[in-house]
Amino acid sequence: MNQTDMTAMTVGFIGTGKITTALVTGFATRSITPRKIIVSPRNAERAAALSQQFSMVEIATDNQAVIDATDVIFLALRPETAEAVLSGLEFRENLPVISLMPTVPLSLLKPMIHPTATISRAVPLPSAAKGFGPVLLFAPHPVSQLLIGAIGDAVEVESEEILHGLWTVNGMISPVFDMMAEMAGWARAQGVPESLARLYTARFVETIAKTAVVEPDVSFAQHSHDAATPGGLNEQTSRMLAEAQAWRVWTDALNAVRKRFPD
Ligand SMILES: NC(=O)c1ccc[n+]([C@@H]2O[C@H](COP(=O)([O-])OP(=O)(O)OC[C@H]3O[C@@H](n4cnc5c(N)ncnc54)[C@H](OP(=O)(O)O)[C@@H]3O)[C@@H](O)[C@H]2O)c1
Repeated sequence: MNQTDMTAMTVGFIGTGKITTALVTGFATRSITPRKIIVSPRNAERAAALSQQFSMVEIATDNQAVIDATDVIFLALRPETAEAVLSGLEFRENLPVISLMPTVPLSLLKPMIHPTATISRAVPLPSAAKGFGPVLLFAPHPVSQLLIGAIGDAVEVESEEILHGLWTVNGMISPVFDMMAEMAGWARAQGVPESLARLYTARFVETIAKTAVVEPDVSFAQHSHDAATPGGLNEQTSRMLAEAQAWRVWTDALNAVRKRFPD
């Protein structure tokens, strides 16, 4: 296999759930696509939907058939099913494997895969379906770098400790949306039209995040301080939330999620 030519690759997925749907959609809708994508038959409904939507997607008869027909495999199983599913399969020596499972470090994953494969771990966001957003990548390989780079911005990390720390941050997608829903819902209750409240809130959060991205030398704390004019609106909201220990609750949630990863 030419490891730099995605158009010649057949990409396989074991576990056809939400994230596989996002990644397959991302790959199939880029200007440069893999030659073929093969998904495992479970979940049947999702597999059927993908093969109907994209002509390059085929459904394998079983998990082994995915391995046998592909040049690179994504493991998109729920962690608790990994050992039972993977230990019954025959991989190929040096087959590139990209695991998306959060709580299965290489030390646990390697013994489940026979014979030894070349394993990377990656953390796509659902936005991979649209081809944007950061994708954490640990233990990169030319094939995992190529594929991850096709559906987002690869962020390579040097250790599983760093990977698990940032993967924990990914556990805050829903709370960030909840925060936006709270602000937009509040504006709606003030009489702001629903679509405007939604759009304005999304653009507002996007602009704050973008400011932080384009000014990497300014700390988040400094941005917060700069926005908080003494006696102004942001000084008041920032103080009230801190006094209510709002951020302590976020830290508690992060700590609880981090405990689900091995050390
Ligand atoms: N969703 C995300 O944004 C995201 C992001 C990064 C990483 N991940 C990780 O990626 C993995 C998959 O996540 P997900 O959100 O896609 O979960 P999901 O929707 O539950 O997908 C898991 C899939 O595995 C299938 N499955 C179960 N047993 C199987 C077997 N024996 N052989 C083959 N497939 C089997 C399930 O089929 P049934 O539906 O029939 O049970 C389901 O389609 C998880 O480890 C998750 O933590 C998810």
